[in-house]
Amino acid sequence: MTNGILGLRDVVSIKDFSRRQIEWLCEEAEKMEDVFRGGSDALKGKILATLFMEPSTRTRLSFATAMYKLGGQVIGFENVEVSSMAKGENLSDTIKTVENYCDAIVLRHWLEGAAKFASEIANVPVINAGSGTEEHPTQALLDIFTIKREMGTIDGLKIAIMGDLKYGRTVKSLSYGLANFDVEIYFVSPESLRMPEDVIRYLEKKKMHIEEYRMLDEIIKKIDVLYITRLQKERFPDVTEYEKLRGSYKVDIRTLSEAKPNMILLHPLPRLDEVDPEVDRTVHAKYFKQPFYGVLTRMALLKALLA
Ligand code: NCD
Repeated sequence: MTNGILGLRDVVSIKDFSRRQIEWLCEEAEKMEDVFRGGSDALKGKILATLFMEPSTRTRLSFATAMYKLGGQVIGFENVEVSSMAKGENLSDTIKTVENYCDAIVLRHWLEGAAKFASEIANVPVINAGSGTEEHPTQALLDIFTIKREMGTIDGLKIAIMGDLKYGRTVKSLSYGLANFDVEIYFVSPESLRMPEDVIRYLEKKKMHIEEYRMLDEIIKKIDVLYITRLQKERFPDVTEYEKLRGSYKVDIRTLSEAKPNMILLHPLPRLDEVDPEVDRTVHAKYFKQPFYGVLTRMALLKALLA
């Protein structure tokens, strides 16, 4: 089902977005900076339900902030334990209930396919706020908006995506989103955490320029953007495997001494030990600007879907 100015009812996968739609959302997000400061009643009377079945700081709070800034209201829960799912209620019954209370649902779930399933049964728009190891489309939108804002362009950039590419979902959505642009992508990860084959195949089909590396040293000098992620400890089937890989990549001041002066360092956060806190005060660090750009992006998206 489609509707709204974007032509999309649900936001399940970034693959459903064209370059034009992503660019339009970036333009709208840009305009939201004034709305953020001045407030708006564009979504007055609308209710957003945020259903989070996995931990979150930024995604849930920034969706709520975006909704309030547009004059709307928010209901929801932040973990399974406080919902009837703790009593054994299934996702389907939860969605069929919550849709009666709201105009859209933001869902984070530990299972791949959960957002797609919810979108098929819900009679209100469903926004995927993270579905297992699979996707996190609104994070990709805000990451792309951040790159655009900070670098002035997306086309022509050399972008390294480093870390847990196997279990991370932001890195997949970001890669799919960037496939709409003329960029070079360098995946950097330990061998056992490489980007899965199906993702690589999708990107190759889109004729994207991709290269894979084990170490950042090989490319640090030429990249414009470094996007780094944590090891997804909770998704490792075997914790000893996690312990073995812990600390296998790290960015510190020394690493950055080789980077271009205007290279930006992004991170979806949370950070563990992969970025030394000393890096925070360098000109490269933009990962605490991303959460602000995230609110603007989510304001633009909610307005497009709901106004
Ligand atoms: C990410 C997630 O949940 O996938 N967090 C976020 O939304 N910014 C990244 C992560 O948990 O590592």
